[in-house]
Amino acid sequence: MAHVLVTGGCGFFGAWILRRLLVDGHDATVWDIERNEARWHFAMIAREIERIRFQQVRIDDAAAVQKAMADCRPDAVIHLAGIQVPGCKANPVAGATVNVIGMLAIFEAARALKSPPAVAYASSAAVFGSDRDYPGGAGDAAQPKPGTIYGAFKACNELCAKVYWKDYGLRSVGFRPLTVYGPGRDVGMTSFPTRAIAAALLKVPFEIPFSGKTAYTYVEEVAAYFVAAALSPPEGAPAFTVGGAIADTAAFIAELERQVPGAAERIRITGGDLPIAANLVDTELRTAFPEIPRISLKDGMARTIDVFRKRQADGTLEV
Ligand SMILES: NC(=O)c1ccc[n+]([C@@H]2O[C@H](COP(=O)([O-])OP(=O)(O)OC[C@H]3O[C@@H](n4cnc5c(N)ncnc54)[C@H](O)[C@@H]3O)[C@@H](O)[C@H]2O)c1
Repeated sequence: MAHVLVTGGCGFFGAWILRRLLVDGHDATVWDIERNEARWHFAMIAREIERIRFQQVRIDDAAAVQKAMADCRPDAVIHLAGIQVPGCKANPVAGATVNVIGMLAIFEAARALKSPPAVAYASSAAVFGSDRDYPGGAGDAAQPKPGTIYGAFKACNELCAKVYWKDYGLRSVGFRPLTVYGPGRDVGMTSFPTRAIAAALLKVPFEIPFSGKTAYTYVEEVAAYFVAAALSPPEGAPAFTVGGAIADTAAFIAELERQVPGAAERIRITGGDLPIAANLVDTELRTAFPEIPRISLKDGMARTIDVFRKRQADGTLEV
């Protein structure tokens, strides 16, 4: 059994990654800016949450990270802490401090350990430009052309990861998903589809501010990739494009209408395309992790509805 450090573990990915780790019998330490169990309760039961060791560590405080890493000495690191697209746009300096300097702090602290742990980290499909830039689809070999400052930070991180492999032999694996959805998704540019599912159940009007295609990946599939990569890291510092169900917003709402009749009349679509390619090609990911099943939009949405209905029954579901 392994001891895995999860940075940003109070976030959406963190909740489902922790669940995967704990269900598989591993130990987990979480670093975050403050203990916030809200998203954990979507993914885990009290007995699992009790097993999580929480430490208040800001990843943009390099000295604190170095000290805490020396104390923690994890077998592997899953690095998720970060600020999303709107936050980086509103404050690029703060965004870079957390997303870029923070990742360097984690890499520096990891390589300083006697047995350096591998780092599985969250990159993003935001390293890509729009579909027009990639006529054959955007895959691992496609040139990054980020259309947001957030995407530029993620592209920088991938380059840094490759230098840490070259200079210090530090293993790392980056993942580039696009629109990850599921219970607990509540912040960021691509959080609207998940929130629309809650709105449909609560029968309240809701607006999704983009209409174009995106690649939808259910959070438990993403969690499985992170855990597999952290525990059995490949050589080097690859960054894997993560594909998903490619659908425009109208198709997403049509599926929601099938599962929650009446949803379509309450959800409005405004705005155009997201600035990120939807036609993602993930051949390398599937070759590296053939045992991890894909979860269809239909199934992922059904699982989300299932969790949300329980929340609705106890009066705690919010949009
Ligand atoms: N959600 C998606 O669809 C998606 C898609 C692609 C990439 N990503 C990336 O995956 C990662 C996780 O995404 P998420 O949806 O779980 O995000 P989230 O916003 O739900 O969680 C991020 C967590 O990081 C923590 N954090 C922020 N600044 C910190 C700091 N200075 N020190 C320590 N912790 C800090 C937050 O408190 C939060 O708990 C992020 O890096 C994000 O950019 C997300």
